[in-house]
Formats: sequence, structure tokens, C-alpha cells
Amino acid sequence: MLFTSLVAVAFAVLPTAVLGANHDVTVGANNAFAFSPTTVIADAGDTITFTFVSRNHSATTASFDDPCPPPVGGFGTGGFDTGFVNAAGGATPAPVVVTIQDTLPHFVSCMQAAGAHCRAGMTLAINPTADQTYEQFLANALAS
Ligand SMILES: *[C@@H]1O[C@H](CO)[C@@H](O)[C@H](O)[C@H]1NC(C)=O
Repeated sequence: MLFTSLVAVAFAVLPTAVLGANHDVTVGANNAFAFSPTTVIADAGDTITFTFVSRNHSATTASFDDPCPPPVGGFGTGGFDTGFVNAAGGATPAPVVVTIQDTLPHFVSCMQAAGAHCRAGMTLAINPTADQTYEQFLANALAS
């Protein structure tokens, strides 16, 4: 009886406190070198579901100052790398779900073609700040 009550309490608390929210990001919509949306505000424990819909891209954390290309495995503590996901030629790959580890800013680009997609402006900001904005990250990628 006590156990049953504890389980009920746990389920009442878990969904918001531990499991987190999901944020959907589309990769390559309209065949563009783009993530949409370009900014995600996420808590620790939230997930981002990357759905790849064109070409052959990755979603990989990058250095804010020197974004292109992002490193294999992803940049920084709490970074991530979906690896290359091919959605060319009618392929419909499974989405890739990434769990966000913290509330720090993380900046994401595509590592395809030695950074050419990144330099084309393929960028996403997770938890950007007043000092590290999405707009400046995009500018850094375009200028690199
Ligand atoms: C996707 O891109 C990577 C990196 O360029 C490449 O190694 C891989 O073969 C590509 N996948 C397909 C199915 O073309």
C-alpha cells in the first residue's frame, strides 16, 4: 500500500522534474543548409529530436568562435554529435534524439564536406546568451 502510494507520487513528479521536454528540430528542410528552428531553449534533461529530411548532414556541437567544421564527436563538455545521417535519394532515416545535459549555451552545425555546410550558414543555437547570440554564431560560421 505504501509502495503503491510512493509509485503514484513518483509518477506525478517525474514527467516535469526528470524526464524533461522534447524539442523538434528539422535538418535540411526544403533542401536548404539549415536547421529549423535555429534556436532552442532547453533545460538539463530535455531532449532534441533531429529529423533529417534532405542530403547527408550531421548535427554536431561546434566552437562558438571557430565553428567550421565542428569536430567529430562534438565540441565541448555536454556536446554531442549525431554522426552523418543520409536523407538523400528518398531515404527516410530514423530521427536522432539527443539529451541535453545542462543549461549552458551549445552551438551546433553540420560537419559535412569539411565544413562547407557550416560555412553556408547551417547553424543552431541551444541556450544562447546575451554574449553568445545565435546571430553572432551564424556570422562566425559565414566568416570562417
Ligand atoms: C554521408 O556523408 C559521409 C561524410 O561525407 C560519408 O562518409 C557517407 O558515406 C555519406 N553517406 C552516404 C549514404 O552517402
